[in-house]
Order: sequence, then structure tokens, then C-alpha cells
Amino acid sequence: MNKISIAAEDRVFVLTGAGISAESGLPTFRAEDGLWAGHRVEDVCTPEAWERNPWRVWEFYSARRAAGAKAEPNPAHTALAELERQLGDRFFLCTQNVDDLHERAGSRRLVHMHGELSKAHCERECGRPPVEDHAIYRSLAEVGRCPCGGRMRPHIVFFGEIPLEMERIQAEIAKATLTLVVGTSGSVYPAANFVHWARLAGARTAYVGPERPLNASAFTHVVVGKAGEVLPGLFQLG
Ligand code: APR
Repeated sequence: MNKISIAAEDRVFVLTGAGISAESGLPTFRAEDGLWAGHRVEDVCTPEAWERNPWRVWEFYSARRAAGAKAEPNPAHTALAELERQLGDRFFLCTQNVDDLHERAGSRRLVHMHGELSKAHCERECGRPPVEDHAIYRSLAEVGRCPCGGRMRPHIVFFGEIPLEMERIQAEIAKATLTLVVGTSGSVYPAANFVHWARLAGARTAYVGPERPLNASAFTHVVVGKAGEVLPGLFQLG
């Protein structure tokens, strides 16, 4: 397997998707037995779904909290945490995942562009920040309310909503000389466009995953393999 060389002047931006947590036992979205095979996006992950039936939404995310609590970081999460330890502020991680496996592996310089399972925020745009919430709810009556009176909802970016931290993400992509994408099908925007932004910034771009993503042709380098097997030996620091 070819190594990816990282020189002293390189800055690395990493984007991860559901595939990096697959070897931790968490299902991806678009696999035949994935999360979207058992649930319709329109029922559990849109503002309209929340309006129509907030319990159905909380039931789905409560089940994902329960699954996430049982999962452990795998060697792919650990390899990225180790790379951050070596590169310091020349490393930045953006994940589409809402699990906390990157943090639990030791990553610190990261953003969750699609939100976090372990938090909740007010359904009204009342300006209060998200709060820690690890509860596995059994009914809507258990779900709390914000001081403003709004019901608390999962801190998840629903389809149709704007991803979080986009300004910071764009700035980090523009600075990076190497953009590495791991375990994402390249079917959800704006994340699927990051490789194009990276190319415009003149960066090398690499993808790691067992299948070629939809946007594979945009990468300068595609490594076909499981993240937990490929990432631990992938980087050669100069
Ligand atoms: N290592 C690396 N990649 C893997 C592995 C593995 N062990 N197993 C599967 N994959 C890859 C699949 O080949 C696929 O390309 O992970 C990708 C998962 O794709 P999706 O299920 O589409 O997940 P993702 O791209 O993260 O979805 C993006 O869509 O539904 C929304 O908000 C949700 O953040 C999510 C977004």
C-alpha cells in the first residue's frame, strides 16, 4: 500500500463519514442494511418530521444513543487522534458523524458538522446554546423544555438545515495542503463538495474506504480498503 507523505510544511484537513465508525459496530446510512433502509429520512430527520411527530424523532435518536454508548473507537479513530498529536494545529478534523468516537479516541481539534448525539437544543431559535443530554427517552413526556418554553430536540442537523461551523470548515480547507476523506459515500452536500474546494486550494486529496465514493473522480488518490485496516499504516511523516 502506498503511504501518504506528510512534510513539515503540510497542513492536513480530514473529513470523516459513517464508514469510519462501521468497524466499531455502528451502521452506516446507505448500506443495504443501513440506517436509512430501516427508517425513512422524512420520518426522523427533517424539520417537518419534528413538527409532525417529535416522539418518532426522539425514539430514533434515543436508539442511536443506546447503540453509540456500547460502541468503542476502532484503530481508524485512534490513527487520526495519533496524527493530531504529531501535527498539533497543522491538523483539523471535520466529521459528519454524530457519535463521539473521535473524542473518545483522543481527537480534540474537531467539529461535528451534522451535530452531536450527546446534546440537545431548543426547537425554537431562542439563542440558548445546546446542552449535554445523554438520556435514552422512553416517551415524549420525559423530554425536557427550554427555559423559553420550547421543547428540546436532538442536536442534529436535519435534512434541509444548514450544517454547523461552515465558516471555520471553509477556512481550514483553504489552509490545508492535504485533504483526506474517510468513509463517506459522497452523496450529501455540502460535505461532498469539500474535495472540490480542496482542489481549488491546490491541495492533494485522498479517499479511504472499501468502495469508491460517488465523487471518486475528484480525488488525486483513492485507497480502497477498510479505514481501520488502512489508516494505522497510511501516514509517513517527514
Ligand atoms: N471503512 C471506511 N469506509 C467504510 C467502511 C469501513 N470499514 N465501511 C463502509 N464504509 C463506507 C461505505 O463504502 C460508504 O461509502 O462508508 C460510506 C458510508 O456512506 P453513507 O452511509 O452514505 O454515510 P455518510 O456518507 O457518512 O452519510 C453522510 O448523510 O444521512 C446523512 O447526516 C447523515 O452524516 C450523514 C450523511
